Amino acid sequence: MATKDVVQRTLAAHGQDHLLAFYAQMESPQRAVLLEEIQSVDWDQLGRLIASHVLREPVARDLAAAQPPEILPPAHENPRRYAQARKLGEKLLSEGKVAALTVAGGQDTRLGFDGPKGCFPCTPVTGKPLLTTLAEQILATGRRYGRPVPWYVMTSATNDRAIRAFFAEHGFFGLDEGNVTFFTQGMMPAIGLDGKVLLTDRGRLAMSPNGHGGVLSALVDSGALEAMASLGIEQISYFQVDNPLVKALDPLFIGLHAKAGADMSSKAVPKQSPTERLGTFCVINGKVAVIEYSDLPDAMASRTDPDGRLHFAAGSAGVHMLSRAFVERLNAQGACRLPYHRAVKRVPHLTTDGRRVLPAEPNAVKLEMFVFDALEYADAALILETSRVEEFSPIKNAAGPSSLATSMADQNRRHAEWLEQAGVSVPRDADGIVAAAVEISPLFALDVKELKAKVKGLTIEPGQKLYL
Ligand code: UTP
Repeated sequence: MATKDVVQRTLAAHGQDHLLAFYAQMESPQRAVLLEEIQSVDWDQLGRLIASHVLREPVARDLAAAQPPEILPPAHENPRRYAQARKLGEKLLSEGKVAALTVAGGQDTRLGFDGPKGCFPCTPVTGKPLLTTLAEQILATGRRYGRPVPWYVMTSATNDRAIRAFFAEHGFFGLDEGNVTFFTQGMMPAIGLDGKVLLTDRGRLAMSPNGHGGVLSALVDSGALEAMASLGIEQISYFQVDNPLVKALDPLFIGLHAKAGADMSSKAVPKQSPTERLGTFCVINGKVAVIEYSDLPDAMASRTDPDGRLHFAAGSAGVHMLSRAFVERLNAQGACRLPYHRAVKRVPHLTTDGRRVLPAEPNAVKLEMFVFDALEYADAALILETSRVEEFSPIKNAAGPSSLATSMADQNRRHAEWLEQAGVSVPRDADGIVAAAVEISPLFALDVKELKAKVKGLTIEPGQKLYL
């Protein structure tokens, strides 16, 4: 461990010596924690990022050449076309060549839930937490294909303990504990708009997770990628923790990606409005890219085609397939460390006179990597459109769009549609809204086909709460 003098010299060289302002008043265990935290930061890299991303705004990407990408149509439009790819995906699952990867390290600032978002109750009848719904899919998929699917869960220093405890309390949801791997992502300090790193306490820097793009280097640094290789895993199904409709392991998507020999594939959903807060797919200089909503110029976002549809209509569902070999190649090229993006946020911190404040206005820059920036390095990148009703209803906000209320309604709708497709009559009101609460556990049925065999003769009364 470095001594205070060494740390002080490093900080002085980077104009950050204020971080030791309260050192003299601290007990020795606190001092050790602070020195260690300071040492964990790559100050040369941070210094460059402060110059390029904090003291000025990074140069915006040139989007003049951006075009809409080629997108494979959704499965329901032509199920036959995809039969072969689906078979391949099923084969890979039954051979144990696919891993599930969930990024769950975020801070959930918009939701404001007291705990990791993965523990947030979300289903319409039983209020199952997000992680439970994902675990049940992974368990059911393993049972269907006769091979348990290894599950890699990325946490961050802020929620790792709580997420592990949640799995333990729930008996790993019936999964074999040995098939679940937790690994933590990197952290980055928040930086005041004057370029000074913030303290959250006298002895702690204001650290936050380094973005979902941190998953690539975390996979490598934690040894998880190597473990995947030794298990013979070839493909990684990546999804976020906050979308209860996600198909965590979609044989079709896995198969299309593998069949095309793609490095990284993505699922797209049609954007609901030009300003919807979703990343937008495009192609720039022959490479697929996702432009974050905050970086998409208004003119580009609202551009329409002669038929009135959005020119850039494909939103990112935050679902990808990554080939393991691709992540290994990125690592060898040093490209697992993706570029950082700047987000100006309100960050609670300690003032120079030691008061803790939560500013009314954004006061700091957080630096985050986005996983979709890896697309730039992909030689082949495929995009599959998918239906929002079937697969996309994330929980981001405490109220309004993408909240618990919208997601529960969407889950209810999807489950009602599944039942109807399976031949069950579902009560609906005069506006066609489902007039019952229905929830189908992935352990009961992973899809309509499986459901059909199990719901013969089922009736549902208006107002009924049905859990299958
Ligand atoms: P979001 O970008 O929606 O962020 O994450 P968030 O942390 O959930 O919520 P806000 O923005 O603070 O309100 C999308 C997914 O990426 C994960 C999240 O856990 C979520 O599954 N994520 C995000 C990480 O794993 N690490 C991060 O650093 C950021």
